[in-house]
Amino acid sequence: MTIDLPLLPLGKGRDLDAERGVECPGDLPVASDPTLVARARAAKEALGDRVFVLGHHYQRDEVIQFADVTGDSFKLAREAAARPDAEFIVFCGVHFMAESADILTSDDQQVVLPDLAAGCSMADMARLAQVEDCWEALEAAGIADQVVPVTYMNSSADIKAFCGRHGGAVCTSSNADVALEWAFGEKGGVDSDAKVLFLPDQHLGRNTAVLQLGMDLDDCVVWNPLLPGGGLTPEELRDARMILWRGHCSVHGRFSEDVVDELRATHPDLKVLVHPECRHEVVLKADLVGSTEFIIKTIEAAPSGTTWAIGTELNLVKRLADAHPDKNIVFLDRNVCYCSTMNRIDLPHLVWALESLVGGTVVNRIEVDAETQAWAQVALERMLALPGRSQRD
Ligand code: 13P
Ligand code: SF4
Repeated sequence: MTIDLPLLPLGKGRDLDAERGVECPGDLPVASDPTLVARARAAKEALGDRVFVLGHHYQRDEVIQFADVTGDSFKLAREAAARPDAEFIVFCGVHFMAESADILTSDDQQVVLPDLAAGCSMADMARLAQVEDCWEALEAAGIADQVVPVTYMNSSADIKAFCGRHGGAVCTSSNADVALEWAFGEKGGVDSDAKVLFLPDQHLGRNTAVLQLGMDLDDCVVWNPLLPGGGLTPEELRDARMILWRGHCSVHGRFSEDVVDELRATHPDLKVLVHPECRHEVVLKADLVGSTEFIIKTIEAAPSGTTWAIGTELNLVKRLADAHPDKNIVFLDRNVCYCSTMNRIDLPHLVWALESLVGGTVVNRIEVDAETQAWAQVALERMLALPGRSQRD
C-alpha cells in the first residue's frame, strides 16, 4: 500500500540561511536540468576512490541513490571513521553529522556538506553559553560532581566538547540506554546519587530513562535554558536523577496520540513503530520504539501482509513503503512531515559539490577547530568504545 500524500508545499521551518549567514552559491545547477543524474554519476566516477558519499536515511531519494553507504547517525559516524583513504567525505545529512565526521577523520581528509543551510533545529536549541550557565547552576547547587553530561549526537561540536571536558559522552538513538548506564556507572551506578545532564533532546532522554532504565517520570526534571536557573530550584536539581535539556525535534514532535488511536480503530492489526525522539505519550502508545536502523530492520523482518504505522521522517517512511509493497505501511501523521533541513540537500547541491571537487575546489568544507575537535573526540570515542549497541539498533 502506498501513502496517499496531500500535495502540500513544504514548510521551510526556521530560516537557517538567515541565521547562519548562508547564501546559495550562484553557480548552482537548476533543479529542472534533465542531465543532473548523469552529471552526478560522471563527477563521482571522475573522483573514484578519492570521494566517499555518506547518506542519512532521511535524505531525498534523488540524493540517496548516490550514497556509497546509508545509515543512521551512529552508523555514519563509524563509516566516516573507517574511510581513512578517502580524500573527500561528502556528507548528505545535516551540519552536526558533518562536524562529527570531521572530528573522526584525519586532518588531511576534507568533509563537505553540500548545503551549509542543512542545520538541525534541535541541535540549535542547546548553545554552549547556555550549557555553561546550566553547569554553573549545578555547581552552585553543590551537585556538579555527581553529574555526567551526555549529549545526543544531534548537537554542535562545542556541546560534544563540553561533554568530553566534563567526563561525559555522546550517544545516538541506537545506544542511548547503553550510554546512560555507562554515565550513571561513572558516578556509582543507577541506584546511587549519580545524575545525568542529558542534552539537547528531552524526549530521547526521558524515553530512555523511563522505558529502558526503569526510572520514574518524577526522577526527571526539565532545564529550560530560556528561564533564570533553568526554571528549577536547587532542591529540584538535587532531587532529580535525569536533568533533561528542553530541546526537541520539530519533526518527531508532531506525532500525536490521537492519530495512533484513530489508526488503531480502523486497522485492528496495526503495529505502531516510532523513533525515540517522539513525545513520551506517543512512545507509550507504540508497539515498538527505536532508531532509524531499528525501524528499517523491523520492517525488513516483518511478515508479508502486516500493517505498520511509522512515526519518523517521511522520506524514510516513503522509501520503506516503496521497498515493501507486500506490507501495508502508513505514515503516523495526517500531514506531510519532512525534515526541511535534511531536505536542503538536493541533487543540484550534490552535483555542485561533486563537480567543484572534480574541478579542484573544495566547497562548503566543514572544519571543527583543533581544541573543540580534541574534546569532542574524547566524548565521541567514549561512545564508540561502549559495549555494543542497544538491542534496538
Ligand atoms: P538517528 O539517525 O540516530 O536515528 O536520528 C534521527 C535523526 O533525527 C537524525 O537527525
Ligand atoms: Fe534535527 Fe529532527 Fe531534522 Fe533530525 S529530523 S535533523 S533531529 S530536525
